Amino acid sequence: MFGPLNPPLADWAGKRVWVIGASTGIGAALARRLIRAGARVALSARDAGRLAEVAGLSPQVCLCPLDVAGLSPQVCLCPLDVAEPGALQRVATDIAARWGGVDAVFFVAARYRAVRAWELETDDIDATLRTNVAAVMQGCAAVLPAMLERGSGALVIVSSVAGYRGLPKALVYGASKAALINFAEALYLDLHPRGLGVHLVCPGFVETPLTANNDFHMPALISPDAAAGHILSGLRRGDFHIHFPKRFTRWLLLLRLLPGRLYFAAVRKVTGL
Ligand SMILES: NC(=O)c1ccc[n+]([C@@H]2O[C@H](COP(=O)([O-])OP(=O)(O)OC[C@H]3O[C@@H](n4cnc5c(N)ncnc54)[C@H](OP(=O)(O)O)[C@@H]3O)[C@@H](O)[C@H]2O)c1
Repeated sequence: MFGPLNPPLADWAGKRVWVIGASTGIGAALARRLIRAGARVALSARDAGRLAEVAGLSPQVCLCPLDVAGLSPQVCLCPLDVAEPGALQRVATDIAARWGGVDAVFFVAARYRAVRAWELETDDIDATLRTNVAAVMQGCAAVLPAMLERGSGALVIVSSVAGYRGLPKALVYGASKAALINFAEALYLDLHPRGLGVHLVCPGFVETPLTANNDFHMPALISPDAAAGHILSGLRRGDFHIHFPKRFTRWLLLLRLLPGRLYFAAVRKVTGL
């Protein structure tokens, strides 16, 4: 009853890992740590040059998909746009052909635009929901049949504390992250009895290109490497809900319990919006 909710993931040596959203920020930091820990890592994002840098290569070297023999035989570069139909399935098939399968997938890729109610735009709504929600579901659909057949594997879904409840300036992004929380919970219910791990990651503020344009104070801001460290510690414990930094996320989890009247008043007081 009080054991870990997931099979703990502690030893990464030789594990086959796919990090989607590995070119910058939290995904890049995760990929670097996983490579150092001895995992075989497939790195995906749109910017192939940055993926090569994360893998420790010259930005010019990049083909799709590329085994980096000699320099780092454990690394495979698989650039893709998650919003492009069929792209995730294509790369999942490439990785399976190369490594015979994948043990863990990190869904990190996302887009964020600060939007208020009077700034909603159709293109931004489409792109955000496609990148942040549909792509995660499609990526799961691409890797799950093989994981289910083996009876093992882990899905690590990066949502956000912005998905806990409605927040100003996170109109579309927050809703996309709330969808992932629901999706991860439903996945867990289906997949835990089949031996698979499902992990929901909800970071607070992390200093990355995603937050670089925020024009407000970001409390308890941490580095991407610290965020990656928190995620890997949570996986080591087998946690389902990995949230950090606790000095910030505990307050938000408390706010989650408030009735609407108190929640709205608290958010207005804190944000001034
Ligand atoms: N930073 C924070 O404070 C914070 C807080 C809570 C949650 N998060 C979540 O943490 C995750 C990582 O965010 P981050 O802060 O590290 O942001 P980031 O540095 O902007 O990284 C986003 C990653 O997603 C990739 N990406 C975006 N659109 C893509 C697409 N269409 N196809 C393929 N890859 C795409 C980007 O690469 P390319 O541009 O090369 O494609 C990049 O590698 C996101 O899910 C975010 O929602 C971040």
